[in-house]
This record gives sequence, C-alpha cells and structure tokens, in this order.
Amino acid sequence: MGRIAVAIDGPSGAGKSTIARAVAAELGFIYVDTGALYRTIGLAACRAGVAGDDADGVTALLPGLELELRYVGGAQHVLLNGEDVSEAIRTPEISRYASQVSAIPHVRAYLLDLQRDMAKKDSVIMDGRDIGTVILPDAEVKIFLTASAEKRAQRRYLELREKGQDVTPAEVLRQMAARDEQDAGRAAAPLRQAEDAVLVDTSGLDLAQSIAAVRRVIDGKRP
Ligand code: DC
Repeated sequence: MGRIAVAIDGPSGAGKSTIARAVAAELGFIYVDTGALYRTIGLAACRAGVAGDDADGVTALLPGLELELRYVGGAQHVLLNGEDVSEAIRTPEISRYASQVSAIPHVRAYLLDLQRDMAKKDSVIMDGRDIGTVILPDAEVKIFLTASAEKRAQRRYLELREKGQDVTPAEVLRQMAARDEQDAGRAAAPLRQAEDAVLVDTSGLDLAQSIAAVRRVIDGKRP
C-alpha cells in the first residue's frame, strides 16, 4: 500500500491532537501536530520581545529561526535552534502568540514546505487549521473535527488544570472564543472545512468513541 495522508482540521479543543495521535499509533502513521510549529514561532516572538501581531517584526525574525520536528518513541518534539521547546510552547500565553503569528502570511509561507515535506516521506496524520484546504489539498482523507464551544473549553480547562496551570473555566472559554474568532476570521488561510472533508462532531462522544468515529472515516476511504 502506498503512502496515505490524513488531514484533520478544526478549532482548538475539538480533540484533534489526542485523537490524531491515538489513530496514528494504531495505524503506524506519523502524527504531525502543525500547531506546534506556529506555537514555536510565537515563542520565538515572545522571547525576542516582538508583539505577535507585529507582522514586520515577526517576519524579520524568521531567517534566524531553525525549526525541526523530531520523533522520539513516536512522540513529536519540536526544536527551535536546537533547543527542545515542546513543553515551553504549551502555555496560554504562547497559545495567544501562536494564534497571532499564524495570521501573518510570511509565517504561513515559511512553514509550508516543512509541512508538505513531512507528507512526502511517510504516511501521516496531520492536524491543524488549513491542512485539507492549503497544505495537503490532495490528501486521501480529510476530516473536519469539531465540538461545541462549551465542550471544547471544558476539555481544554481540564487539560490545563492537569498540567498544574492556574486557570478558571470562564477564562478558558473566553480565550478560546477569542482564538476561534481570530483563526476563522483572518485573511490568510482561515479555518474552514474543505469541501471534500467529512465532518465529525465530538460534542456527544467520549475519547474512545471519537477515535472510533475518525477510524471509520479513514477505513472507509482507504483503498
Ligand atoms: O492547534 P494549536 O492550538 O496548537 O494551534 C495554535 C495556533 O496556531 C492556533 O491558534 C491556530 C494556529 N494554527 C494555524 O493557523 N494553522 C495550523 N495548521 C495549525 C495551527
């Protein structure tokens, strides 16, 4: 069987990364979390004291950045100029930076080849916002994964609390709504469902049911 690309897009908190990671492990595919790349550029901007919405400032940083995705025991690690920043990019502050820098066309262009190259080498499950629409328009399987805003915020809240972060449910819902609006409302590659993507709504599903629902779509499309 040849290489297969599965594109999973959707808003934050829909369960994309957890589900994609699990399904990739089941199928022996490489899981590519593209949000981590935007987060890493957000982190670089934050560290450099450049505002996330300063398009010229962030663009000027790009030539000095070296991003690498590395897989350790199946887990994706992202390296910024040789430093493993996989943990450092998972804070609410960097989520905000990531959403801002991801609206800058130069940032999206900078990350395009890196993402496409991953799918040239291996069978992948790639998650993000524009994988089915822009990055891998010819992906064999496209899924748009979503859930109600309340459900997504609740999941993200539990995830952050588990990591020991001091947040309130109301705060998470507010930040998520702001990020949704920014990701879907931007001019450059806004979040939207590809015409040939299958919609999977996980609002009423637990994790095992969500994984099974995604598997059904993939298995139904595989040759
Ligand atoms: O999936 P995530 O929450 O880690 O993504 C962080 C931000 O990056 C999110 O606000 C939108 C942006 N992003 C994007 O614009 N395109 C992608 N393919 C993945 C993420």
